[in-house]
Amino acid sequence: MKAQAPHLAKQFGDIQGMLRSGYGWLKSSRFLLLTIREGQEEAARAWLAKLVESGVIASAHDVGKSRTHPIERAAAIAFSFLGLTKLGCMETKEHPFPTPFRSGMGSDVRALLLRDNPREWRWSDVDGAACGPVHVLIAEWTPKDAGPLISDVDEAVFCVIRVENDPCSFQKINGEKEEKLIEAFGFRDGLAQPVIQRLRQDDGVGLSEARTEAGSLYDDRVVSAGEFILGYRNEYDELTYCPNVEGWTQSGRAIHPGGRFALNGSYLAVRQIEQDVEAFDAFRAANGQGICEKLMGRQANGLPLGWTSNPKKPTSDSKADAFRYRVEDANGFICPKGAHVRRVNPRDTLGVDVQSSIRSTKLHRLLRRGRPYREQSNGKTHKGIFFIACNADIERQFEFVQQRWVRKPGFVNLHADDPLVGSSDPKTFPKALSMPGLPSGEEVSLASFTTTLGGGYFFLPGIAALNFIVGNESASKSPGSEVAEAAAS
Ligand code: HEM
Repeated sequence: MKAQAPHLAKQFGDIQGMLRSGYGWLKSSRFLLLTIREGQEEAARAWLAKLVESGVIASAHDVGKSRTHPIERAAAIAFSFLGLTKLGCMETKEHPFPTPFRSGMGSDVRALLLRDNPREWRWSDVDGAACGPVHVLIAEWTPKDAGPLISDVDEAVFCVIRVENDPCSFQKINGEKEEKLIEAFGFRDGLAQPVIQRLRQDDGVGLSEARTEAGSLYDDRVVSAGEFILGYRNEYDELTYCPNVEGWTQSGRAIHPGGRFALNGSYLAVRQIEQDVEAFDAFRAANGQGICEKLMGRQANGLPLGWTSNPKKPTSDSKADAFRYRVEDANGFICPKGAHVRRVNPRDTLGVDVQSSIRSTKLHRLLRRGRPYREQSNGKTHKGIFFIACNADIERQFEFVQQRWVRKPGFVNLHADDPLVGSSDPKTFPKALSMPGLPSGEEVSLASFTTTLGGGYFFLPGIAALNFIVGNESASKSPGSEVAEAAAS
């Protein structure tokens, strides 16, 4: 008999809200990277416990409560492996954490795999020029002009790196009423996302419209919950592995009978990527907007290349994500095979046929929750993306995409890596984008438009596990807990 996954809808109170929503209506975001200072572990735990008790950490249940009055603020907390250890959470021998998370994105072995140079980063999950290893990541989302949600971090307890909101990141385009997310190179972002089965599908928020708009291609984006949330069935129809920590089982906090510590959690692959907007603008001035759109693989307004829009009836986001490449654009005449969006999600192109290709790309989907940031230093404004990819299997999802598709020069027989987020070392990889059908020749050479400033892997715990980490004794079980229901019946 198949092992049973918990009933997902009954776990919404225990799943952090960022897995259910990107909080698109909360147009400001900030990220805090905290390193717990030596000897300050107890004080750190007490501060974190107070933060959790204050109710700012949104659950998937909070997110789905009301379509007309969505929540007005939200935060999420995640921990690096060193952070969990620092706070006294020791993995059990029987169910340890997976290797990439244990070793950290900033470790030498991951750096080799990902073609990174973490020694030049400002921060990482294993080390950091400014503060030492980052232990805790806090993300917060607030309305556009609201001040920070979390401003009282005690700097005697934590060394803090703040990644601030870019107030220009939401703009009105095409005469639309709603402001849309625009990244610093001027492209619509946050369009193509996997729909987590039974998490987004059951909440009723605009999903029937989304399905109608996407038509028969809607199913291309529906992905099993276990690809993003630990403990559920994944695209192999297996239960995603859940690590455990000492003391969890005895604590009686399990939200599902026998559920391990990591149930309802996820891993975040985080990278702070600075964008050289001046270099990109200069490239655009020299080569034209059309070529920039070929690098990205989408029009600036978010439409797939080659589509036209009626300004009186803008294309919905759902429709703009309903396309494939194989039949209409097998050779990449419209969207080059090496373009950013075609590399990071080749959709229906890599297998022997459309259906098997889609099945296999579903094994490598990322739920993107990053936001643009802005900072001032040396009298200059620096912009970039605080990139966050949620996934349940770091190796098969984030690392596969980064290593085999983004940074592999030989991807689909090309000889260059991702034109935007490939390696920034021009000696190793001459940057170029092959463009079949380009009258002037086949290739355009590129500058390095982005630089990674920091990165790390973080574990986003379920809410019961979060209370366990911060030592919050008084926390009651989440609403709808299956344990509570089993006890009552
Ligand atoms: C500064 C860095 C980056 C910029 C400016 C950028 C920009 C964009 C834009 C404009 C889109 C199209 C809009 C959309 O589909 O939502 C997109 C899509 C996407 N990006 Fe990036 N991106 C960056 C870094 C990354 C990295 C590092 C990864 C993964 C390793 C990544 C993975 C994706 C994925 C999976 C999609 C969706 C593609 C699809 O499903 O069609 N991006 N990105």
